[in-house]
Amino acid sequence: MSAPSTSTRNFFTAEESAPVGVSVEKVSKNYGALEVLKDLTFAVEPGEIFVLMGPSGVGKSVLLRHVIGLEAPTSGRVLINGHDVMEEGIREHVRMALVFQEGALFNSLSVYDNLALYPREHRTGTEKAIRDKVMQALKLLSLDDTAEKFPSDLSGGMKKRVAIARALVMEPQLLLYDEPTSELDPVMSATIDEIIATLKNQYHVTTMVVSHDRDLAFSIADRVALMMGGVLIHVGSPDSLKQSTDPRVVDFLNPKIDLEHPRFKKNAT
Ligand SMILES: Nc1ncnc2c1ncn2[C@@H]1O[C@H](COP(=O)(O)OP(=O)(O)OP(=O)(O)O)[C@@H](O)[C@H]1O
Ligand SMILES: [Mg+2]
Repeated sequence: MSAPSTSTRNFFTAEESAPVGVSVEKVSKNYGALEVLKDLTFAVEPGEIFVLMGPSGVGKSVLLRHVIGLEAPTSGRVLINGHDVMEEGIREHVRMALVFQEGALFNSLSVYDNLALYPREHRTGTEKAIRDKVMQALKLLSLDDTAEKFPSDLSGGMKKRVAIARALVMEPQLLLYDEPTSELDPVMSATIDEIIATLKNQYHVTTMVVSHDRDLAFSIADRVALMMGGVLIHVGSPDSLKQSTDPRVVDFLNPKIDLEHPRFKKNAT
């Protein structure tokens, strides 16, 4: 991992602010009888790209929602630069954004208005300055011609890119992506990987990415975590994950198709 810088810079303006570290402390989350997160403790260092992998339904999206303070843990806490993320007013001090797995765009708003919503609400600049930021973000994601379209006019992959562009317009210091490259073709996936890495290298954005995409994890991550059964069974460099001999890690990274012993229940009705 490269040394964290002492400051982070906005993408579209030269404004400087402090890099952001995340500390997840003994976080558990239950939904009724379902225990999803079990006493999780880990940190994301300022300016780091931390990639979270794990089987479907294990709680990766739930964890991201806790890191950004959209949901309160059943017990434990998440600290952002030492402040509890559930504290009122934390968003006044730390700019954070989550690119939702499903995009979560406002269907009644055009692409342009989806992106302009946050800067308008937070009065971050003149309408002209907002327009410049929005158009730059759209351009970065090859979406220049979609500004006046509505989410329902877009393909799944385009919606995903709009969701990423919307997060960029917020110029976050802490940026969380939930499956940013699912539904994208290989070239666009590589573009997203490059954007994530560039935001880290040039702007020292602290980044957490949930992904099943091993290329992404192994090419841009500083550290990779593998989540199973509500806990992180491995946290370390991409190489450490690749070299792990833990059978759960080996099976996750290299699932074998075994028709003699299929994973699905043969007699299920
Ligand atoms: N608001 C909720 N209420 C009840 N259960 C929930 C809620 N949100 C998530 N869950 C449950 O928590 C578990 C983890 O869900 P989550 O969406 O985090 O999985 P995931 O690891 O992101 O999976 P995928 O890779 O398929 O996106 C699932 O069993 C899900 O049904
Ligand atoms: Mg998910």
